[in-house]
Amino acid sequence: MSKTLLSAPLATLEQGDDFIRRHLGPCANELPAMLAAIGVDSLDTLIDQTVPAGIRLPAPLALGEPVPEHMALANLKAIAGKNVLKKSLIGMGYYDTITPKVILRNVMENPGWYTAYTPYQAEIAQGRLEALLNFQQMVIDLTGLELANASLLDEATAAAEAMAMARRISKVKSQAFFVDEATFPQTLDVVRTRADYFGFELIVGPAAEAASHEVFGALLQYPNERGEVTDISGVIAGLKTKAAVVAVASDLMALVLLKSPGELGADIVLGSAQRFGVPLGFGGPHAAFFATREAHVRSMPGRIIGVSKDSRGKTALRMSLQTREQHIRREKANSNICTSQVLLANMAGMYAVYHGPEGLRTIAARIHRLAAMLAEGLQQASFALTSNTFFDTLQVATGSKTAAIYTAAQAAGYNLRHVDGKALGISLDEKTTQADIAALLQAFGATADVAALDTTVAARGGNLPETLLRGDAILSHPVFNTHHTEHEMLRYLKRLQNRDLALDHSMISLGSCTMKLNATSEMIPVTWPEFADIHPFAPADQTTGYLEMIDGLAAQLRAITGFDAICMQPNSGAQGEYAGLVTIRRYHTSRGDHHRTICLIPKSAHGTNPATAQMCGMDVVVVNCDDSGNVDLADLKAKAEQHADKLAALMITYPSTHGVFEEAIREICATVHQYGGQVYMDGANMNAQVGLTSPATIGADVSHMNLHKTFCIPHGGGGPGMGPIGLKAHLAPFMADHVVAATGSEDRPNAGQGAVSAAQFGSASILPISWMYITMMGARGLKNATEVAILNANYVAGQLSTHYPVLYTGSQGRVAHECILDIRPIKAATGISEVDIAKRLMDYGFHAPTMSFPVAGTIMVEPTESEDKGELDRFIAAMISIRHEIQAIEDGRIPADNNPLKNAPHTQADFIGDWDRPYTRSEAVFPLSWVADNKFWPTVNRIDDVYGDRNLFCSCVPMDELAN
Ligand SMILES: Cc1ncc(COP(=O)(O)O)c(C=O)c1O
Repeated sequence: MSKTLLSAPLATLEQGDDFIRRHLGPCANELPAMLAAIGVDSLDTLIDQTVPAGIRLPAPLALGEPVPEHMALANLKAIAGKNVLKKSLIGMGYYDTITPKVILRNVMENPGWYTAYTPYQAEIAQGRLEALLNFQQMVIDLTGLELANASLLDEATAAAEAMAMARRISKVKSQAFFVDEATFPQTLDVVRTRADYFGFELIVGPAAEAASHEVFGALLQYPNERGEVTDISGVIAGLKTKAAVVAVASDLMALVLLKSPGELGADIVLGSAQRFGVPLGFGGPHAAFFATREAHVRSMPGRIIGVSKDSRGKTALRMSLQTREQHIRREKANSNICTSQVLLANMAGMYAVYHGPEGLRTIAARIHRLAAMLAEGLQQASFALTSNTFFDTLQVATGSKTAAIYTAAQAAGYNLRHVDGKALGISLDEKTTQADIAALLQAFGATADVAALDTTVAARGGNLPETLLRGDAILSHPVFNTHHTEHEMLRYLKRLQNRDLALDHSMISLGSCTMKLNATSEMIPVTWPEFADIHPFAPADQTTGYLEMIDGLAAQLRAITGFDAICMQPNSGAQGEYAGLVTIRRYHTSRGDHHRTICLIPKSAHGTNPATAQMCGMDVVVVNCDDSGNVDLADLKAKAEQHADKLAALMITYPSTHGVFEEAIREICATVHQYGGQVYMDGANMNAQVGLTSPATIGADVSHMNLHKTFCIPHGGGGPGMGPIGLKAHLAPFMADHVVAATGSEDRPNAGQGAVSAAQFGSASILPISWMYITMMGARGLKNATEVAILNANYVAGQLSTHYPVLYTGSQGRVAHECILDIRPIKAATGISEVDIAKRLMDYGFHAPTMSFPVAGTIMVEPTESEDKGELDRFIAAMISIRHEIQAIEDGRIPADNNPLKNAPHTQADFIGDWDRPYTRSEAVFPLSWVADNKFWPTVNRIDDVYGDRNLFCSCVPMDELAN
């Protein structure tokens, strides 16, 4: 052993930067070759050639030194330890649950599930597509409707989506929407915000009066926020005779026992699937469910998984009706939903698979039994309940004893809902025990014997109205009746996981999506009980750890973005856009500028931008791009001037979706400001900015940060995400607040601005991921990550440019953190499209880059900083090999309609079946020497999209069909 290391300074041996080199792909000895390959002598030179000098940060980010992984974990553990773990019986849409450990470890904590992307490439996503189909089937069964989507962001936004959908399908002229006053307050808050900008009048009142109003739709809650279970079929019928569309917010666990809202007449049913095994997490992430009748499928928001067939006629799953999505329909979109809650929907669906109908009935019946026992005990002690029919929630008239009982319960370890000065709410859940009932009764000063209460309640058969007990079969598909032992469940989860290509297999170079490393140390805190088991509306003195972590992350994000304030509420990028534009509208209104409603959006923008603008009541004016992919400055100036009186905002992505740092960005922002508008920066491409420039530096007023891109929250197969917004000081007073809970440690008073998400900090339990990332990287590591992301993109662009034209570069020939490869000339010459290339990449073990965004007929590659030279070279080799295959078609050496690209992806069935193709089996499935070492087998052949949309089928496939 060399003596040098033994004599080295201790500081070197400490390896304080260790995480930086674990996060970054290229190691020190790979850098020279990569730099040489693109013709620069250093990273600094590359960055100078890429990022305009005028927008560079003058100083390093005001963040600390990198903290080693184990120390960052210890620091965060100490912060988490400041949260106080009590049993929260607050309810209001959030209930404690037992996450089956087999699901916790093999889905929630498993990179095979959490590092996948949204299943656009369906042939290599059959596992999570099946899991999502299970989720949809479960929702269909429990809601009693015909069709469900594969999740929305949370219950409150799902309710707002239901209102918007009701407007789309209702023929009633009135612009009024009715909301049951017994709807969760945070749901009402979010619906109110949405209604404001859609221009709807909101009528809030008792459900019984709903039908007396002229409304296009109504939202009821069943069981309602007070826990009451009443027959709403009469109200629904009354509303429907007046042609109103009726949405019902409901609770999946209650629906296991109760007649479904579908049976009671509802057109739309929504709610949260949280209590099906997903931890409370201080408010999220949780999957919202959303179901409707088949007739309304085209008006439904969100993604729907459906059944189709592959080129061998085999059953195969895919996302249906994708043309309804915001990517395509822009301001005509049904909604701006993009990222949703796939990982959590998968967990909830698997909870039903694991327990099955009998298991769920037992869990629900037990919860109800305990609630009824508690009710009986309280009534025996002369406490009055708001309702004698309930599922799990009691509202107890406590009068002058309210404060004393609340405090006694807390001292005994229980958080109750503080309804008002005269009543307390108690919601029981799967974790509640008989001992809890005894302790709760004691807190109320009641002395009943729990066993005797049980006997009384059992004899009575509980407190659900007989007429509302569910009579139909639920979850009868075999998938819910097969995997009930842990072994079977484990193997089912593994079987599905094996069908999906995620980051644990190979690089996923999706442009604009930033599929970078989701380090294990970042993920570990998410499931710590100190973070996972906290109710969002727990008393503030029990959540100081959360607030410290969130404040810390907000400070980190302020340092990175240059903004003055952070709003941590939006739970996706598109929600961030919405929160940002709403803030802008409020700002203008505060200055008397109600009429400022024009939103300029470059042609190259992501579809969520115009979709969001339209949700905020804005009119979109599209700005052209020039031949180099930049915003056409002359067009922007002309349009800003033309609309000067009404200009509200510009939405701009930076670096642009074309993958370049536009040099005129400052001038663009100044122009918008000159005409009274505000600049909203879509932060999807922040990965190219951190440490080099910032949204505030370029001139933005507000911007969202996709924590699920730049800041390492994994994509979860299509969510969760977090899209907090950063704002300049003048906008900060107008950012979202929350009607139930404070939105910051300074206890910003609820100024009635209105919420954009159900929980005050959106999906708070995944925020530790970004906290850990920023803490472990420090200022130095973050800047280095950006530089390497730019290096990797330029390396890929450089290596591939002679095979595929790189569509756009900056003035010095550089791309930013991603590059667009133009496939259109290839298509013109050979008929081979970007889709064929995407499918062929699967045979090489790679996920396709982003397709046809922002330019149709192209692919956009974003390698991120986390891929090393070896992986980049394998991807490059695959792309070059594919180009040679295309050349063979071009040269007439292989038919244009029967070649490895048109027949891709190739499956084991191809490999072992009859073979009459003009290329070998080996060329088909092992096209390069290293592929066999790490072969990924797509489980289905090319899926027929048209068949799937024409023969829409969005529930679990009958077993006999599968057997065929
Ligand atoms: C440029 C851009 N803007 C907005 C979005 C929407 O973000 P989210 O999916 O988090 O809602 C995306 C998503 O990929 C995007 O690429």
